Amino acid sequence: MELSRRTVMAGAAAASVAAATTTGGAAHAAGGRGKPVRTLFGRLADGTKVHSWSLENGGTRMRVLSYGGIVQSLEVPDRRGRYANVSLGFDTLEDYVASSPYFGALIGRYGNRIGKGRFTLDGTAYQLSVNDGDNSLHGGARGFDKRVWDVEPFAAGSDVGLRLHHTSADGEMGYPGTLRTTVTYTLTRKGDWRIDYEATTDRATVVNLTHHVYWNLAGESSGTVLDHELSIAASHYTPVDSGLIPTGDLAKVAGTPFDFRRAKPVGRDIRTAHQQMLYGKGFDHNWVLDKGATGRPEHAAMLRDPASGRTLRIATNEPGLQFYSGNFLDGSLVGTGGRVYRQGDALCLETQHFPDSPNQPAFPSTVLRPGETYRTTTVHSFGV
Ligand code: GLA
Repeated sequence: MELSRRTVMAGAAAASVAAATTTGGAAHAAGGRGKPVRTLFGRLADGTKVHSWSLENGGTRMRVLSYGGIVQSLEVPDRRGRYANVSLGFDTLEDYVASSPYFGALIGRYGNRIGKGRFTLDGTAYQLSVNDGDNSLHGGARGFDKRVWDVEPFAAGSDVGLRLHHTSADGEMGYPGTLRTTVTYTLTRKGDWRIDYEATTDRATVVNLTHHVYWNLAGESSGTVLDHELSIAASHYTPVDSGLIPTGDLAKVAGTPFDFRRAKPVGRDIRTAHQQMLYGKGFDHNWVLDKGATGRPEHAAMLRDPASGRTLRIATNEPGLQFYSGNFLDGSLVGTGGRVYRQGDALCLETQHFPDSPNQPAFPSTVLRPGETYRTTTVHSFGV
């Protein structure tokens, strides 16, 4: 049935996606776990090939593009074993290139915003690419979400996965230092999706890598996530100004719409006339995880769709989590399922250091120096 839904698409891109589905299907038929399977997904305007990789393990299936490290689809079963793609995306490379609000993408060099795209490090002032009003968002105009990554598949022990490599040149998007980045996507035997980020630099720089899957545990194109229940293990968040740049305060969530310490429906307080909600057009804030930065990934958040029973738990060693309730989805994009995406049709849970940290000395540091290795891990565990 998965095949028939995808093969109705028109054109060459559809053919390549259909081919990917067939190959992926063969891998699934062979028992699920096996080396990831590669197919051609499309070509960029300059002729560069973009591949799609299908992988499956422990009941989780995903398709990843070499363009932006994009998770094009992620399928998990509901309580009755029925699969759905729980991640928003597009069918064609053209759609991703034309205009994507970071659907499923790897984000770098700096996830979230840097005020005015400016910061000073060791006495030198840097001006970054500004692409969100006055600010720099998600690495600037051409961030890691728009780069073609070198992809190396692996099957090791009970894991399968992909290692994605990108070297970002000194000065790219205004950032100092040649940044050598490896991001590893692992599907474990239990069906967890684990992301390990690693980077080194040859000059002092700032780094904050994250991921931008838009989750809808009822399945993409099924409607809003307002009835999903969310909990976030955080007593504080970082309030923002009208440009969504943190004021520097750590505010208590108690007594505000931002209190997700106990699970509550995403939509319960989303229309509260709180100044922060007006700035964000909903939730678009960084939660300060109570556990802080940790050596190993620890519990950060849990999402549950009562209708399908699907659950997602997120563990990370990062100190922050951006919860974005899909506020800017405005009905202008048609997704994988052939339906229009509207406000609140998905939400993002982006594990990270806090926004604008390079300009906030009191926030945990995002500075990386030569000789050091940046290492963070986020684990997504699916269940019912
Ligand atoms: C992040 C930001 C949001 C928005 C989305 C992409 O989550 O915090 O404000 O820019 O990316 O649309």
